[in-house]
Amino acid sequence: MEPLLQLQDVSKTYLTTSDAAPVHVLNAVSFSLAQAETAAIVGPSGSGKSTLLNIIGTLDKPTTGIVRLDGRDMAKLNDQEVAVVRNHQIGFIFQAHHLLPHCSVLENVLIPTLAKCSVLKPSTALERARRLIDRVGLTSRLNHRPSQLSGGERQRVAVVRALINRPKLLLADEPTGALDRASAQTLAQVLVDLNREEKTTLIVVTHSLELSKLMARQFDVCDGAVREK
Ligand SMILES: Nc1ncnc2c1ncn2[C@@H]1O[C@H](COP(=O)(O)OP(=O)(O)OP(=O)(O)O)[C@@H](O)[C@H]1O
Ligand SMILES: [Mg+2]
Repeated sequence: MEPLLQLQDVSKTYLTTSDAAPVHVLNAVSFSLAQAETAAIVGPSGSGKSTLLNIIGTLDKPTTGIVRLDGRDMAKLNDQEVAVVRNHQIGFIFQAHHLLPHCSVLENVLIPTLAKCSVLKPSTALERARRLIDRVGLTSRLNHRPSQLSGGERQRVAVVRALINRPKLLLADEPTGALDRASAQTLAQVLVDLNREEKTTLIVVTHSLELSKLMARQFDVCDGAVREK
């Protein structure tokens, strides 16, 4: 079966100013993940974990090499096609939740479904939003604004928002980095449970050994290389 995600000899070099030396971050990285697999990406600060995640999520382009999502070479798509892939197939969770401050929990979760190219009918989106919000234990917070939530609750809203369009791939960059231990454990469990229920392939960048151990596969980013542990 075709892997959901395939990286083939992906390299990334940042060119900054003309007099500064180029920064070689990733060097010929290759690996594949199957649908519904879970993976942790670990490694020291500055090793290139976020760079790797952004390339996988089409937010950044590799300098050389190929990223295939569902068998499609991302470099062969135009900007509009890439935007559609990003909206339909990929969900993102960042260290900071990036929720809109003036919108309620329910409204924040529905935002990705408002895009012109959205796959969900409004009634389906609303039903799914309510179900997922309930699933992460936040039904009593449906009409709260982000400022009225705890950090852990905000991150659970961010998880629901990332999953609302039924993405095939969920990418999380340090999702528990700003949380206390108990909230981090709750969030980790939510990610694992939803991965099982939704069959979403999950990639988590984390410094937390606890969270990385919950993933089926572990990849270590070091000196430009990515090695499976
Ligand atoms: N836009 C950019 N231009 C130039 N260099 C960059 C750019 N983005 C990142 N870098 C450099 O690339 C390297 C990898 O950065 P990246 O953010 O991927 O690291 P990371 O592993 O996510 O680190 P952390 O654990 O601290 O989040 C760093 O040395 C960083 O300075
Ligand atoms: Mg990072």
